[in-house]
Amino acid sequence: MFRIFITFTLLINLGLSLIFNISAMKSSLLTNDLDCHTLSNYHEVQVTHAHLDLAVDFSNRTLSGSVTLSFSRISEANQLILDTKYLEVKEVLDQFGNNLKFKFLEKDELLGVPLSIQLNDSTQSVKIFYATTDKSEALDWLSAEQTAGKEFPFMYTQGQSIFTRTWIPIQDTPGIRVTYDADITVPDGMLPVMSASNPQEYNSSNTYHFEMKQSISPYLIALAVGNLAFKAIDDRTGVYAEPSMLSSCADELIDMGKMVDAAEELYGGYDWGRFDVIVLPPSFPFGGMENPRLTFATPTIIAGDRSLVSLIAHELAHSWSGNLVTNANWNDFWLNEGFTVYFERRIMEALYGKDYTDMLALLGFQDLQADLSSLAPEMQKLKLMLKGKHPDDAMSDIAYEKGYFFLRMLEENLGRENMDSFLKNYFNDHKFQTITTEKFLVYLEKNLLDGKREELLIDDWIFGAGLPSNCPKVISNRFLQAENAVSLFLKKGPKKIADLTSTWSTHEWLHFIKHLPENISTKQLEKLDDEFQLSSNGNAEILCVWFLQSIKADYQPAFEPMKQFLIKIGRRKFLQPIYEELAKNPEHKIWAKGVYKKARSNYHYVSFNTIDGILN
Ligand code: BES
Ligand code: ZN
Repeated sequence: MFRIFITFTLLINLGLSLIFNISAMKSSLLTNDLDCHTLSNYHEVQVTHAHLDLAVDFSNRTLSGSVTLSFSRISEANQLILDTKYLEVKEVLDQFGNNLKFKFLEKDELLGVPLSIQLNDSTQSVKIFYATTDKSEALDWLSAEQTAGKEFPFMYTQGQSIFTRTWIPIQDTPGIRVTYDADITVPDGMLPVMSASNPQEYNSSNTYHFEMKQSISPYLIALAVGNLAFKAIDDRTGVYAEPSMLSSCADELIDMGKMVDAAEELYGGYDWGRFDVIVLPPSFPFGGMENPRLTFATPTIIAGDRSLVSLIAHELAHSWSGNLVTNANWNDFWLNEGFTVYFERRIMEALYGKDYTDMLALLGFQDLQADLSSLAPEMQKLKLMLKGKHPDDAMSDIAYEKGYFFLRMLEENLGRENMDSFLKNYFNDHKFQTITTEKFLVYLEKNLLDGKREELLIDDWIFGAGLPSNCPKVISNRFLQAENAVSLFLKKGPKKIADLTSTWSTHEWLHFIKHLPENISTKQLEKLDDEFQLSSNGNAEILCVWFLQSIKADYQPAFEPMKQFLIKIGRRKFLQPIYEELAKNPEHKIWAKGVYKKARSNYHYVSFNTIDGILN
């Protein structure tokens, strides 16, 4: 009897602990999956479609009108909670035009103010009347003087990572996908374009209709408005830009169509219809942004020699990694960017060869090493824990380059053919879905690793800081030559390297300038400058590394061109290292603050927020 009792309690305990473990597992899965950068209740009621009806008002610098959201109910919840930040909400109606009660919940400094809308059993959609404010972080409003044409103002949005909530009340998490359509009204002489089907010509009504019929995450909803013109490259690719820049932009991006072909060849059909690029004014804070069907790009890639088009390959690659298969939350950001850098370099290799692409990979490796020596161990992991932090803090070369080298390591160990069919299936099996690192790992183990998870140090790569010992080594012959040129220049002067440099691309120049010795004198910089006119170089990448060397050596002739550069260009990747370098020396810092006074109003929030942090 006693034995039976013991067995009985043992069984119960076993059962209880099993149940307990399963529920613990479930909740840990859930907390892993859930996005800590949204205050919405997307796990209860999920937005599925957005209809925007907005007027673009340049004199008040606002977007105003309405958004109508359809949703599906996952639980019994009787409220829809949306993310908002710096929005004015006027009224909320249901599909019959009846008023719905709404209230703002508690504000979070970083994430904004959740908007709760009461739902009735019959509520199928909510129409929110709202306007943006002068604080809306997504929006950049440019005066006519800040454009190339100087005649019309300009505006654009930047949604990634958590800025869409500052121009649309929505569940602003990559964990959901929505389709959208929009009616956008603009002033005379201006054309709106979106991450959707786009007009190629002006109409007389000033209202334009847009459709995005494939589901995307809200950070990819995007709008730009300006005096724009369109030029086709081929029948599915083309360029939007201000008229005065259009032909140089189209010429620079002439290979876009070939890039799409190469990408399809690698990892399967392009699913989005058209692939167009808009070249924005110089305040755009990023190099590029992969808004579906319409990549947004900085004008600093228009170098005149097509040497910076890997950026287009990158944004194109996001049409698969990021836009089709999307990181479920910003802790998994490397799934977007690491895969995209790998894919980008495969496109570049297909078009321009391995030698060329190895230069890009080696430059990437150098950037990675710089980040590894400056970032805290917590931030050196592919899988991040960003709760309480702005997701843009994850935008380091860890996600991009460590992610790239991880995939390249898989390729080198498991074979390119296996890698390619794995990736093709990965995109196909997860298309129009979101994915976490943990789910990716399960898929990877099942479909590629062949029992080698430990041997290949997979968990060190993903959950550990630093670089595992099996990180691939890149050798670039063309860079070895640039290194030789450094020694030759130091021994014999700039004339002696003129022959060598005459065949160089931007990338050899970058490598050369970065490898000048720490203690280089102003005299030597002057000689280089006299021979090669580096301070007035038209290539922003070259200018940026040249300015960094000039600050270190206090080479004064570069300071006036640097000032002009800082006032004109708003791309954070260039601004951040320059201001950081300037801030190291008290005199330079005073100078930098003076420049920043003039420059700040030319920057998007993303950039001035970073530079404020450096100079104050
Ligand atoms: N999606 C990113 C831009 C981004 C990342 C915006 C994180 C906001 C938060 C885009 O695809 C990108 O990576 N752009 C790079 C260019 C690329 C060639 C590495 C950039 O802007 O420098
Ligand atoms: Zn990217």
